[in-house]
Amino acid sequence: MTVHVSYIRFHMTQAKFPPGPSTNLLWAKEPSIRKDVLGHFHNTVRAYNGISRAAVGPYHYVNISEPAYIERIFTHPEIYEKGRDARTLRFILGNGLVTSEGEFWLKQRRLIQPLFHKSRLQSFVQKIEESTAAMLKNWEGHTGEVIDMHTEMTQVTLDIVSQTLMSTEVKGDFKRISDALVVVMEGMMKIIKLPVWVPTPGNLKMQKNRALLFDTIAKIIEERRASKTVYNDLLTMLMEVEDADTRERMTDTQLRDEVITIFLAGHETTANAMSFTFYLLAQHPEIKQRVVEEFNSVIGDGEMTFDNLNKLAFTTMVIKEAMRLYPPVWGITRDASQEDVIGGYRIKKGDSIAMSPYAVHRLEKYWENPLKFDPERFSPERMKNIHRYAYFPFGGGQRMCIGNNFAMMEMQIILVMACTQFNFTLADNFKLELEPLITLRPRHGVKMVLTKI
Ligand code: HEM
Repeated sequence: MTVHVSYIRFHMTQAKFPPGPSTNLLWAKEPSIRKDVLGHFHNTVRAYNGISRAAVGPYHYVNISEPAYIERIFTHPEIYEKGRDARTLRFILGNGLVTSEGEFWLKQRRLIQPLFHKSRLQSFVQKIEESTAAMLKNWEGHTGEVIDMHTEMTQVTLDIVSQTLMSTEVKGDFKRISDALVVVMEGMMKIIKLPVWVPTPGNLKMQKNRALLFDTIAKIIEERRASKTVYNDLLTMLMEVEDADTRERMTDTQLRDEVITIFLAGHETTANAMSFTFYLLAQHPEIKQRVVEEFNSVIGDGEMTFDNLNKLAFTTMVIKEAMRLYPPVWGITRDASQEDVIGGYRIKKGDSIAMSPYAVHRLEKYWENPLKFDPERFSPERMKNIHRYAYFPFGGGQRMCIGNNFAMMEMQIILVMACTQFNFTLADNFKLELEPLITLRPRHGVKMVLTKI
């Protein structure tokens, strides 16, 4: 057996490394990876055939864009683990679902997965409708004015995650939590940074905001444990789930990590996806009109439920197409924990892997006329021609987004409620600029003018 394994290893190390630039991208004369990371990915996936390798600072990055190779990464978690980037994120997300690994992650995922089952999601429809209705009511007082759709979407998704996760409104605690999160996340996005324990002013600010965040969540959990009220929310569910074998429940620290994780993973991504969807619809009133017509014929005055929202086929295609052009998670990384061979090329133990939904979703090779906003690409007939891993806004394999059905349901509700009540146009001279932080955001928001229908 030992002979066999070392024989395979010998062959792996004989394979050539993937092609790529010989200079270190971080010290290059034009460090595109720092100045324009989206442009860098865009160019790299076109310059090489599905796989390339380059030194970035002290590490080597393998950039992968061929769907079959992406599939291998996602479906071989024993080789490709979350690695360095997840360890950085642990500063804020602790050992929650996004950042944990191995047995511990599996145990948590099995505990939490049932909370995202459609029977549970149904119980959140009303809360999502109420938050959206409150936003639309407020819009009525601002028709004809320029509003920032990104701010609106950030607030409504924050309200929704607060209500569904902890039955708490966005005031006091939650405003503080979200502001603190922004400070921490922006600080962490700096590609070259000193370790967080070095007392630079930026790091001290991050530490302070993290402490505030942890205290606020701990206080909410403590209050909840002492309360007699029964809440219908994710926090109650998280507090009640038990390990099937040991019957143990989550510790307070673990609860805190999962709460911050869901809070963060669950609102910014959805807010960005919605902002880009409205941006596209404002330029395509005929597509927006089809969303309205579909809603009127499928649901109309009827009740919104998880099941009948899923019958909104065209609306779903619109959301998918918006996330193709503007995937909220624009880059996904892994680290190789062992040697591997992909497409005949050697992947060295310790290499980082980067896969960019943003770049792959715009590749001419897989998408005809890729810059065109065309929801029909996702019609059942045309979907058959799309490789499963040429489109991966929610990732893939066992680490795929746990909240994808929640997110789709939330986006369907916001979209149909807003589209049936308002028309949107882009503000004069507004030009979309992208800002790739951990999520892909509109740098200066999405400025729009609303009219009531
Ligand atoms: C449009 C909205 C969303 C997008 C585009 C999105 C995207 C993603 C992606 C790409 C991943 C995988 C990351 C990786 O493989 O490294 C992920 C993981 C995750 N997402 Fe989402 N997400 C969205 C909404 C949500 C919502 C609403 C929730 C919760 C309420 C959520 C909770 C999570 C969690 C907990 C994970 C980690 C899963 C694990 O590793 O087991 N996400 N998401």
